[in-house]
This record gives sequence, C-alpha cells and structure tokens, in this order.
Amino acid sequence: MTLEQKDLSKILETAIVAARLAGQKALEDINFVKFSIKNDSELVTPTDSACQQIIIDKVKETFPDHGFIAEEGDQGKIFKQTPRGSQQIWWVIDPIDGTNNFVKKIPIFAVSIAAVYQGEPIVGVIFDPSTDSIFTAVKDNDAQINSRRINASDGNMDKYSSVGLDTHLGEKVPQWALEIMTRTRFRTLGSAALQIAYVAKGALIATVLTRPKLWDIAAGALIAQSAGAKVTNWEGKDIFPMDLDNYNGQELKTLTANKKVHAEILELLKNTS
Ligand code: IPD
Ligand code: CA
Ligand code: CA
Repeated sequence: MTLEQKDLSKILETAIVAARLAGQKALEDINFVKFSIKNDSELVTPTDSACQQIIIDKVKETFPDHGFIAEEGDQGKIFKQTPRGSQQIWWVIDPIDGTNNFVKKIPIFAVSIAAVYQGEPIVGVIFDPSTDSIFTAVKDNDAQINSRRINASDGNMDKYSSVGLDTHLGEKVPQWALEIMTRTRFRTLGSAALQIAYVAKGALIATVLTRPKLWDIAAGALIAQSAGAKVTNWEGKDIFPMDLDNYNGQELKTLTANKKVHAEILELLKNTS
C-alpha cells in the first residue's frame, strides 16, 4: 500500500491536534503535580499517562487500526499495540518529554509524536506548550515551526555556539563531553525532543544524546533531517528504517548535528567514548 499526500496530511493534522490537547493538559497540571518513581530510577506523574491517553484516544478516532509505541505502559513497561489492517502505521509517542523539569514546575518540556511507516518516520510533531511552538515535518517536505520553514545552522564548534548534552554522562565525564563543554556554550535542557528540535531551527549546532529511547527521537529525527541536519547513531549509521515489531525500549545513542559539524563530533564520539 502506498501513502498518498492526503493520507499524510490527515496524519499530520491528527498529530497536531493530539499534541496540542496533551500539551494543554500538561500546562494545566504543571503547578499542582505529584510524582512517583518508576523502574527505581525515573520520575513520572499521573499527567504523563493522562496526556498519553488523550493522544491515543485522539488518534484512534481517525485511525482505529494503527499501532502504538508509547512510553507509559503498565508497571513502568512501554505501551505497545501492533497495527492491524492494511495501513501498517505506528504512532510513536512521548506524552511529556522532560518529566524531570515538569515535576519541578520548570516549563521546559514537550509532547513528541511521530507516525512511522515501513520503519521510517513519515510525520513528526513536537509541541512546546510553554512557548506555543509546534515543530512539524512530513517526509520529503520542509521542516516548520508554527507553519514557517526552519533550517539547521551552518555554525562551527566555537565559543559562541551551543551543543545540547544530556545528564547521563556517568560517574566520570567522558573526554568527548569535556571537549564539547570547554569548546562551546553547551546546554542541557532536560528534553531530548526539544534539543533535537532546536538543532532543526538552528539554535543548537548539535545535540548528543546518550540514552534516548525511540519516542525521544522519532519525531525529532524527521524534523531535523527535513531542516537539513544529519541524524545518526554514534557509529555514523542511519537509525531508520527500524524494525518496530522488535522494538521494546532499547536505548539508541543519537547524534543530531548540522552538516558542518556532524563529522567532527562523530569523530570525537568514536575516539573518546
Ligand atoms: C528524558 C528527557 C531527558 C533525556 C532522557 C529522556 P522523559 O525523557 O528527554 O532530557 O536526557 O534520556 O529519557 O523521561 O522526560 O520523557
Ligand atoms: Ca522522553
Ligand atoms: Ca516522557
């Protein structure tokens, strides 16, 4: 089955509505939220599951046979429902990316939704409710923020540029990270999806993610690539297409970078991680 433009438009429209509804709910809850701990290590709130349910219900209204891979399942597991019928499309959902910020009432978080077909993201939406910014991309089209085209930067690694890092650097900060920290104005925003979106709009020259899961990167990867950035694993290989039937929450070390610095950062990662 081939997907037509009208199918993609309908998927995009649905993803945007779902992301906006979930983001609105998260904003309503942020100052009143109570958290618990899942898998002995991560913070989670009832709002994470509520937002996920809002998204899944919205998608099912239009696409009852599509599949889902989403972060919040029962007892800390992932939520997975295989697609049925002829349109083998998976919706990959992170209802709140940046829960650690959210729990602390820091309004830096995003809703991330991707539709994946034949292992490749075909639609990506990242919604930042705090700034009312919606990043979108449809395969083979421009990346956009609030319907305006965005492009990755062509900035070099220097003392004026920023590279996004995360906080999973282990007990001893690796050499590649030290180098990025000393050579650039590095940032760690607490939302992997937003950091990728920021590479897409040229705010960050790159972001190195050490332990992201599929739902952290699926929408962002399409958005960043559509904006002219390069998205690979730490060996420099493409992450997609991916066999989603066999995806069960594995970590996917990811480098998203503008085309000027991708090779340089990749070398750092290969040599010093
Ligand atoms: C996390 C955030 C964080 C990143 C972690 C993710 P969550 O997602 O994106 O910035 O460093 O790897 O798990 O738990 O807030 O959805
Ligand atoms: Ca996440
Ligand atoms: Ca999350």
